Amino acid sequence: MVTLTLDNSSGSGASGFQSKDQFLFGEFSMEMKLVPGESAGTVATFYLTSEGDAHDEIDFEFLGNVSGEPYVMHTNVFAQGRGNREQEFYLWFDPTADFHNYTLLWNPHNIIWSVDGVPVRVFRNHEPAGVPYLSGQAMRVHGSLWNGESWATEGGRVKTNWSAAPFVTSYGGYASSACVVPASGGGGCPPNASSSPGDAGAWMGRQLGPEGVAWAREKYMIYDYCDDRWRFRQGPPAECNLDRLG
Ligand SMILES: *[C@@H]1O[C@H](CO)[C@@H](O)[C@H](O)[C@H]1NC(C)=O
Repeated sequence: MVTLTLDNSSGSGASGFQSKDQFLFGEFSMEMKLVPGESAGTVATFYLTSEGDAHDEIDFEFLGNVSGEPYVMHTNVFAQGRGNREQEFYLWFDPTADFHNYTLLWNPHNIIWSVDGVPVRVFRNHEPAGVPYLSGQAMRVHGSLWNGESWATEGGRVKTNWSAAPFVTSYGGYASSACVVPASGGGGCPPNASSSPGDAGAWMGRQLGPEGVAWAREKYMIYDYCDDRWRFRQGPPAECNLDRLG
């Protein structure tokens, strides 16, 4: 169990932690209880990232709000340095009242974001069609709480209310089944990282089609970069159309 605290005196405007190990594929789960009450401007995260310029990254970011208004769950994925793949959702529960489970599954087929076991987003490997995928860079697990008031709440119109500080997010129940990449090189996947569906450690073989996230998309999605015609005037990124075709 870890709590992250944000107040106006910490200088850096952020606090966080990261895993010692780095991984190439895995399933990572975190229980989180978000900043209650006044949380506008705060951003609590659970994400994987590699280092360097053309980095890979998979994000859960929770954008706070004024008391009583809903959090936004912001997701993104960077492949070889390119992100701009945001999808945003409201949650079907109050994420500040209790711990809930947020899981990132990353294997050679796809990346699946799940909330309390319900898949909300999938980013499929379309490398054969020329879309870069996250398959060559090891990543570490991170959690952080930072001041994102320039963009987080209602697009930055609502700022952090420091009179409500300190802001606290709790993390617990971390679990992973993943392929560790030692600094010395080598490494490999644990024996339970089976690629045959039905096995206990079947995360390595798990695949979801676009229909697998239909419930969350229909009921709770509030933004999908694939539908942002203003932003992508020449048409959406290639993976959007590939997924529409199934
Ligand atoms: C905050 O509340 C407003 C009003 O309900 C809503 O439009 C917005 O999506 C909420 N979340 C964030 C992060 O702005």
